[in-house]
Amino acid sequence: MTKSGNFERKKNMDLYGILKSAHSGWRYVVFLLLVVAVIQALAGWFGKKTYTDGNRKLNVFTLISAHIQLVFGLILYFLSPLTKMASSEAIGRYWKMEHISIMILAIVLITVGNAKSKKVTDAVAKHKNIAIFFGLALVFIVVAIFMMTKVGPTKTFFGMS
Ligand code: HEM
Repeated sequence: MTKSGNFERKKNMDLYGILKSAHSGWRYVVFLLLVVAVIQALAGWFGKKTYTDGNRKLNVFTLISAHIQLVFGLILYFLSPLTKMASSEAIGRYWKMEHISIMILAIVLITVGNAKSKKVTDAVAKHKNIAIFFGLALVFIVVAIFMMTKVGPTKTFFGMS
């Protein structure tokens, strides 16, 4: 390997390391915001509450946090050695196809739920849209992380690796 080749490799590895930690840590932000947003929406829906500016802000922050995670994930997809593993193995299939598709589906649900809640005028209908779409997204994210712990024995549900 040439000197500049070594340098390029090191630079990429650093970027990979930073993004891996960022993506790994940011999951807690997305997860926490999503859980609180769903609880708030369920309380609003079943308790027939008004839709406050605080409610709207929390939902928008949840949406933004998910989109930031998407950006980290998309770049990681091209840098990670995990996505280069053979699809014939469960771990290769998970990182090449399952993680990306389930997580993108979850992020689409969050985006659609937020947009739908903006379109309707009724407060309870706003809460209902958030509860259903964000709630489904939360289920998908939990399933994807659970699947990750199954294919990679070093990964745990709440731990970083
Ligand atoms: C809400 C959405 C997402 C969550 C909660 C999430 C969560 C995670 C978690 C917990 C890890 C394991 C990190 C570790 O080992 O410490 C991971 C790794 C990874 N994620 Fe995501 N992810 C999300 C979305 C995405 C998306 C949309 C993509 C691709 C477009 C993606 C690509 C990756 C890749 C490639 C890795 C492997 C990194 C490596 O260890 O080399 N993620 N993600």
